Amino acid sequence: MYDVNMVRADFPVLDREVSGHRLVYLDSANTSQKPRCVVGAVEEHYLHHNANVARAMHTLGAEATEAFEEARGKVAGFINAAGAEEIVFTKNASEALNLAANTLGARLAPGDEVVVSVMEHHSNLVPWQLACQRTGARLRWFDITEDGRLDLAKAHAEGLIGERTKIVSLTWASNVLGTVNPIQSIADQAHAVGAVMVVDGSQWVPQAPCDARASGADILVFTGHKMCGPTGIGVLWGRGALLAELPPFLGGGEMIEIVRMEGSTYAPPPHRFEAGTPPIAQAVGLGAAVDYLAGLGMADVHAHEQEITARILQGMASLDFIHVMGPTEMADRGGAVSFTVDGVHPHDLMQLLDSRGVAVRGGHHCAAPLHRRLGIQSSSRASGYLYTTKEDVDALIETLDWAHDFFTGRTRLRSL
Ligand SMILES: Cc1ncc(COP(=O)(O)O)c(C=O)c1O
Repeated sequence: MYDVNMVRADFPVLDREVSGHRLVYLDSANTSQKPRCVVGAVEEHYLHHNANVARAMHTLGAEATEAFEEARGKVAGFINAAGAEEIVFTKNASEALNLAANTLGARLAPGDEVVVSVMEHHSNLVPWQLACQRTGARLRWFDITEDGRLDLAKAHAEGLIGERTKIVSLTWASNVLGTVNPIQSIADQAHAVGAVMVVDGSQWVPQAPCDARASGADILVFTGHKMCGPTGIGVLWGRGALLAELPPFLGGGEMIEIVRMEGSTYAPPPHRFEAGTPPIAQAVGLGAAVDYLAGLGMADVHAHEQEITARILQGMASLDFIHVMGPTEMADRGGAVSFTVDGVHPHDLMQLLDSRGVAVRGGHHCAAPLHRRLGIQSSSRASGYLYTTKEDVDALIETLDWAHDFFTGRTRLRSL
């Protein structure tokens, strides 16, 4: 039985006050809070095992290397990779997506097409724009329907995925709309035309059980700090045979085999893609984070997240001045709930909510084209996680009601 209060006891930050109010942290799609065990693993590493990996042939070097490679194995197990060699550590999801766009992108030629969607985070858009600019390939994208899902009918009518498609790169779950995309069936279409399927799992891997090999993806990317891990660590998983074919991304120490002045040969994956000193303590922290998540059980984490998100949607439906962007039903929906409030700018709202201890995000959430597509500049976003309670959600809804009154002057004297 999932006990959210026991979970909360692992996150000391949730006990603090903000602006004289209990902290209600609803910005987990931006970054999650960290449990004690993750902070402890990083501290333990720095205090007792710190050395560089692979290079130092002494006890501490061996311990650091073992801890780093052990973390790789834990991450591999967490997403059901075929083996640790399929896990490349990067500094975040953005770097992992740049790795994919640079290495896969090296195969592109004029006339080839790369398919993304209008709901992508900038991290899964700009690297592909750059790859297309470098190679003369064309960038195309899925549009969305009124309810914020991929417009599959329009894509079909346009022949979006076809003979020219070489890469399809899609987010698994939108960081704005919450939409969960049908990755498997789109991967089937991509594979039918010989294209490679890249999936941005930044918002989904933290929330739900993930089987990378069964997902349809050839490359799956995610970021440690949204799943209880430290900042500064990201992951690129790739099918072994594909990784083995790809050229290096960054050059430097650790990624080489033999270096001569005339040229170099490269290490096999994953080290081929990890130039220089990697984020060692951060990987150790991510290893502790996936242990923590696995210990809670990702099926239970997912069920909790769904319950909390449903309550947010239900609460917002009771306020007629709030307009939720994206699906309002829980089917194929993740935990990001973005919305606009009649007559109130998201930045003003964010500040006012903060004055009551409620942390949400306001802005374009690194998805400016999506906002433009929806005819708005910015929105507010509430996102819970495994430590979010029903009381947090109720505080959000009450505070939204109060904030709307405050800004529109409906009843300024009303208090919570
Ligand atoms: C869907 C999605 N992709 C990519 C990223 C980028 O993650 P990072 O900033 O850790 O590189 C984010 C972060 O907000 C995201 O939500």
